[in-house]
Amino acid sequence: MAKILVTGGTGFIGSHTVVELHQAGYEVVIVDNFSNSNPKILTQLKEITGKQFDFYELDLCDEAKVKAFVASQPDITGVIHFAAFKAVGESVQQPLKYYRNNFYSLINVINAFDEKVDLVFSSSCTVYGQPDELPVTEAAPVKKAESPYGNTKQIAEEILQESCAVSPDLRVISLRYFNPVGAHHTALIGELPIGVPQNLVPFITQSAIGKRGPITVYGNDYPTADGSAIRDYIHVVDLAKAHVAAIKRMESKEATSNYEVFNLGTGKGSSVLEIIQAFEQSTGEKLNYTIGPRREGDIEQVWGDVTKSATVLGWKAELHVNEMMSSAWKWEKYLKDNPF
Ligand code: WQD
Repeated sequence: MAKILVTGGTGFIGSHTVVELHQAGYEVVIVDNFSNSNPKILTQLKEITGKQFDFYELDLCDEAKVKAFVASQPDITGVIHFAAFKAVGESVQQPLKYYRNNFYSLINVINAFDEKVDLVFSSSCTVYGQPDELPVTEAAPVKKAESPYGNTKQIAEEILQESCAVSPDLRVISLRYFNPVGAHHTALIGELPIGVPQNLVPFITQSAIGKRGPITVYGNDYPTADGSAIRDYIHVVDLAKAHVAAIKRMESKEATSNYEVFNLGTGKGSSVLEIIQAFEQSTGEKLNYTIGPRREGDIEQVWGDVTKSATVLGWKAELHVNEMMSSAWKWEKYLKDNPF
């Protein structure tokens, strides 16, 4: 049975991907340092899958420890690398923390496998900035990052592409996520923001449950139908399934190149006000919100061209925005009764 190392596997997208890998018949080993997740997720994963996953608490910035760990796991056939800091605002305040962590961890993992491994990399649509054309394709130019976080994703993709060019046994697929939201239908795993949520959907669910005040809509003077900014929101379970498809594609050795990039979105944009409306319609909860100024660094509008993912990766998002909202709300209610 193929065995996949999932770094950052107790995080939001990582934990959902562990479930989908298990259900697809893969053996999974998880590495995490809980810098942005909670150990209880391991118990939750056992409750969902019935499996107590092999887990190692490890800081991937420690080169010697990463080498020793990988040497102790000779049967790993692939890696999905989620482990990275990802808060845009924090990255502006602490750039070195982001460059050190996100690059040391990635480079240590590749080195530990002597650049001979199948690796799925967690990238982001942030690399596009504000695209010149919409929907944005993988061929669109990468634009100057608006934050150190976005820059770490751009530079990491370059590190991987240039490494693949000289290491034929290193096969990489970079997955450019649009906006991951929602939660597993069991409501046993979901997004666990630390402190005040910076992202829209966790702020909405915390506002609806009474943990936060009214939502501030950051700007309604954008050149969009209702004036609020547009994003391509994608259900985290759809996103998780795409990672299994990426591993399978590398196992098939069908690709003519050992470095590929895919957009992971729905191909549809939703405005902030439409998301608020979708939440109210799918949960029956009334939201309080005010209109505030635009947020520094935000782009106006982006949604993905997902043709390549459908035709080459053989993956397509299936879950509707209402399921994204209702599952996020079910998870928030679970957290209220079962605080982590
Ligand atoms: C979405 C929209 C906000 C909060 C970021 C990262 C991206 C990825 C997802 C990691 C924007 C508006 C938000 C609020 C609001 N992160 N908003 N009120 O900024 O598109 O993407 O998170 O992988 O890489 O860049 O996501 O959820 O923060 O914002 O009006 O209280 O909601 O202005 O238009 P974003 P977001």
